[in-house]
Amino acid sequence: MKKIIMDVDTGSDDALAIMLAILSKKLEVEAICSVEGSRPAENAADNTLRVLHLLNREDIPVYKGCTAPMVKSIYKDRLNIWEERYRPEYPIRERVRFHIDFDYLEPSEAGYQNITALEFYLDYLRRSEEKVTIVATGPLTNIGMLLRAEPRVVDRIEEIVVMGGGYDISNVSSSAEANFWRDPEAASIVINSGCNVLLVPLDATHKAYITAAEADVIEKTGNDIAAFAAKLIRQRILAHNISQPLEEPESAAIHDALALCYLLDPEVLRDVREVHCEIGLRDFSDGQTIIDPRYYDEQHNCRFAFSADRKRFIDLVTETFRKSAEVIS
Ligand code: RIB
Ligand code: CA
Repeated sequence: MKKIIMDVDTGSDDALAIMLAILSKKLEVEAICSVEGSRPAENAADNTLRVLHLLNREDIPVYKGCTAPMVKSIYKDRLNIWEERYRPEYPIRERVRFHIDFDYLEPSEAGYQNITALEFYLDYLRRSEEKVTIVATGPLTNIGMLLRAEPRVVDRIEEIVVMGGGYDISNVSSSAEANFWRDPEAASIVINSGCNVLLVPLDATHKAYITAAEADVIEKTGNDIAAFAAKLIRQRILAHNISQPLEEPESAAIHDALALCYLLDPEVLRDVREVHCEIGLRDFSDGQTIIDPRYYDEQHNCRFAFSADRKRFIDLVTETFRKSAEVIS
């Protein structure tokens, strides 16, 4: 079975990715590391632990990761502004969130491990005999730090599957996707590390949207896990409707789940090309995904999924949740 480490800022779609990884029974989740992103690293770790408790998989260790990006110094202020704007006096468009903490799920007694995500990665990769795949669905801070601390770990990593970036689509600024915008230097380090990197950007995830009717079908599979999955999808639909409407009404992109599903069925991604990608590091280009358009440039540093097979993705997600009652019991 393929061994994976997940690096998450859980997060609604991160939670769906974690559930799919575990429920599929096709992947061995070695550990989950949190990182500061959609939620603070501490909350992301706690949200992850609650999901593992729901799945009865608290044997999977959770490590708290970096609490700020590698370089960006304005980030904390920006984050505070973001938290502030969710207060009731702000207009509804500002207040509906894609990600809220899972306080409504039972807390886990497991707690996160007492070493940091960076310490875990260094120790695990030094000791592991097999290569491991990393699925990163938050800012790339932990992995950027890891590659700076010990570049030789590149040889121990099979592939890094990253949800991040956007060629034709952005979501947090006029030029950037959220995970890359939050830590552009880390994204740049990872993409240029020499690792086998696959980017699953907004161009692909927006093609693989899930509708409210499809969330109903998932819920009807009839257990707590499927009900939680449907709830997360509906929350994302609400947020999309209000602040980032998609072409298809009443639908949501489930970015991180698509990245994870690539490991279950690579055909969910379409038009995957070797490219040379750089990340903008300042001003209007901060966090921008810059794909070199020169077809004669052969200095490719990653693969980039320009599209996705929506039907294949929905069928995989629905079937995995349908089976979840048997898997968990
Ligand atoms: O831009 C989408 C990404 O930002 C997703 O990974 C989402 O969970 C947030 O982290
Ligand atoms: Ca995420």
